[in-house]
Amino acid sequence: MKTAVYPGSFDPITNGHLDIIKRASKVFDEVIVGVLINPEKKGLFNVEERVELINSVIKYIPNVKVESFSGLLINFMRQKDAKVIIKGLRAVSDFEYEFQMSLMNSKLDPNIETVFMMASSGNSFLSSSSVKQVAMFGGCIKGLVPDNIIPDIISKIKSL
Ligand code: PNS
Repeated sequence: MKTAVYPGSFDPITNGHLDIIKRASKVFDEVIVGVLINPEKKGLFNVEERVELINSVIKYIPNVKVESFSGLLINFMRQKDAKVIIKGLRAVSDFEYEFQMSLMNSKLDPNIETVFMMASSGNSFLSSSSVKQVAMFGGCIKGLVPDNIIPDIISKIKSL
């Protein structure tokens, strides 16, 4: 069985992430969305909330699941017996950082491959940070994130 891990912060999941997840689910037998537990970075949502939001949007895709992880991604990959990391690329500006990470990960474990998927053109401007910024200043985030999580984002921002 070919298992791939799609790692990230997902604070929160956007339609760009969801597009990559759906496309990856057609290429691999199983896709695990890996949410990084990063104690150094306080997000809008805590990791449990991010996992819950992702679960609410992927529950209709049978071969996709979500889990959190801490530490090195390659250790999580080994635990899950996964050999492929999925990354989304939106623009050339993503490339350098992602290129370095993929080289580091293959240095740490040469059995791990990183597979890059290009963001669909309609999502190439989308990021969790820009979604949060738009929502913070009262802008409309419809079409940027899955519809069902919009109320969660708005109420979280109101509670700050
Ligand atoms: O959504 P993000 O914040 O761009 O995701 C970054 C992520 C989680 C993919 C990356 O920070 C990561 O893999 N962190 C785990 C630590 C690790 O394995 N680092 C080794 C490569 S330098």
